[in-house]
Amino acid sequence: MADKVSSAYNQWSATYDQVANKTRDLSAKVLRSQSLPLNGATVIEMGCGTGLNTAYLAVLAGHVTALDFSEGMMAQAKTKVASDRVIFKQCDITQGWPVSDQTADVVVGNLVLEHIADLSPVFAHAFRALKPGGQMFVCELHSAKQMLGKKAVFTDTATGQDVDFPAYFHDVSDYANAALSVGFQIVQMNEWRDDDSNKMEPPRLITFRFVKP
Ligand SMILES: C[S@@+](CC[C@H](N)C(=O)[O-])C[C@H]1O[C@@H](n2cnc3c(N)ncnc32)[C@H](O)[C@@H]1O
Repeated sequence: MADKVSSAYNQWSATYDQVANKTRDLSAKVLRSQSLPLNGATVIEMGCGTGLNTAYLAVLAGHVTALDFSEGMMAQAKTKVASDRVIFKQCDITQGWPVSDQTADVVVGNLVLEHIADLSPVFAHAFRALKPGGQMFVCELHSAKQMLGKKAVFTDTATGQDVDFPAYFHDVSDYANAALSVGFQIVQMNEWRDDDSNKMEPPRLITFRFVKP
């Protein structure tokens, strides 16, 4: 399944930044609205993709390790982010992370956990990588949107057909419980709608801020 996801993103990488995508854009806006302790911090970004958020993190952080398993997405990110404070490492974030234990101040992940069936290993790796007091910020497609059939999808420019690839349903409590089970505490949870949306419409995104005690 992981191969299907990484090869889909290799294919999507050529157009990911160009094609309108409300979820990507709201997620980037939400990340920028957080008061995360990024200044001078050691940051790990899970699923950096084409580097839209890596570029933001690179301006503030002392060091960013950007992780992604798609060569194509990471190649795009490298063209966007040229900073000696950022290193890109290709890896599957469900497997061991190429970082030392207890070295990170902040772990950030936007729109990546949708592609991961079992969340526990990811939270366990993040917990290990963080220093005590370190924070993890997660921003994902809201389960209410997933229930309506929304998922990551892109159009193959050659065929004009939508490309379907693995995505997994996660209840809001799945994120919370996966984090709590490895020792995180929840310090904040929010739901985010489009600017032109109202309270009776399902939120587009869910965010959590976790802390390692
Ligand atoms: C929707 S994109 C989000 C990219 C970026 N965070 C953003 O918000 O624009 C999801 C990214 O997660 C990566 N990804 C998905 N599953 C992964 C895994 N198990 N390990 C590493 N990267 C993964 C994909 O390759 C892709 O670049």
